[in-house]
Amino acid sequence: MEKIETSAAVEELSNEIQDLLLNLPTEKNWDGTSLYQYQGCWNRSQYVSSTISFQRHFQAKESDIILTSFPKSGTTWLKALAFTIVNRSRYPIENSPLITTPPHLLVPFLEVDLYTKSQYPNLEDFPNPRILATHVPYASLPNSILNSDCRIVYVARNPLDQFISHWNFLSGSQQQNMNLVSVEEAFEMICNGVQTYGPVWEHILGYWKASQEQPHKVLFLKYEDMKEDIQFNVKNLANFLGCPFAEDEEAQGVIEEISKFCSFDNMKSLEVNKNGIYRRFKNEAFFRKYFFFSKGGVGDWKNYVTLPSMSERLEKLFQGKFSGPQILI
Ligand code: A3P
Repeated sequence: MEKIETSAAVEELSNEIQDLLLNLPTEKNWDGTSLYQYQGCWNRSQYVSSTISFQRHFQAKESDIILTSFPKSGTTWLKALAFTIVNRSRYPIENSPLITTPPHLLVPFLEVDLYTKSQYPNLEDFPNPRILATHVPYASLPNSILNSDCRIVYVARNPLDQFISHWNFLSGSQQQNMNLVSVEEAFEMICNGVQTYGPVWEHILGYWKASQEQPHKVLFLKYEDMKEDIQFNVKNLANFLGCPFAEDEEAQGVIEEISKFCSFDNMKSLEVNKNGIYRRFKNEAFFRKYFFFSKGGVGDWKNYVTLPSMSERLEKLFQGKFSGPQILI
């Protein structure tokens, strides 16, 4: 039954969070706002609060599909792909809701969108299977997700490209009065693990280990592999989500059609993604504009992290963190 949030419940949570924040380690974020370390993960106070509501109240269904990622790792792409694959019999591509609705509205984030608005958002009206997203680390997912048969898909990206993608995303928002530290200072902070949802290596390793231990529950995708062979990954994703392509679909080129529809160039060209705002960001910011020297995607960090001492330090740091499982680098 849907629970209604009372003003007393809002006040109670707010008091609890204020007390909690006083006792959490804190650091400054790239834009000067405060980050708090809750369950090993750095985040803004409002997302600490919404993560707690998500952990306490989310009731997973076995049919749920939970899309997970570290920010700027290919989340928008994964949302478009999963939505299109799962709903392909309901919506032919030419009538896809993605033509009129941005991926982040069709597949909302649990702690970033739904649980920031209410401790008990109404999730009953979502059509089954519900496709929902989160950036919360694996270890902090609600028990309800961990203990149910719902499926989790994680997309990982080379942390150096993720760093530059995030940097560009936020510096492109400077016109919205966001005063960022220099790229060198931001670099120093990520080396210390301090960034929203960081440390990035803990995030990636948590989902990587879960995917190794429970391959039927957690699928670990890599942005770079998807760039290299999207059709293989679309097929793999459909198999994992329990809606494999039939032989006649394959023969009719459905996999290719979905891959092209969800491609960067197509998604970026849709009017709906060129206009409008999602949270405090323009929808178009989720599809980066590239400069002549920068193709984006894979390896773009080399165009920004130009000092050899910086790139060597980052590469060494990540190689050390990922040295057991050769995950990304
Ligand atoms: P770049 O800034 O390197 O271009 P997220 O969706 O997690 O916020 O990640 C954003 C990154 O994914 C950006 O990377 C963006 O350009 C890229 N991206 C968005 N949609 C994409 C798509 N359909 N195909 C490939 N990359 C995509």
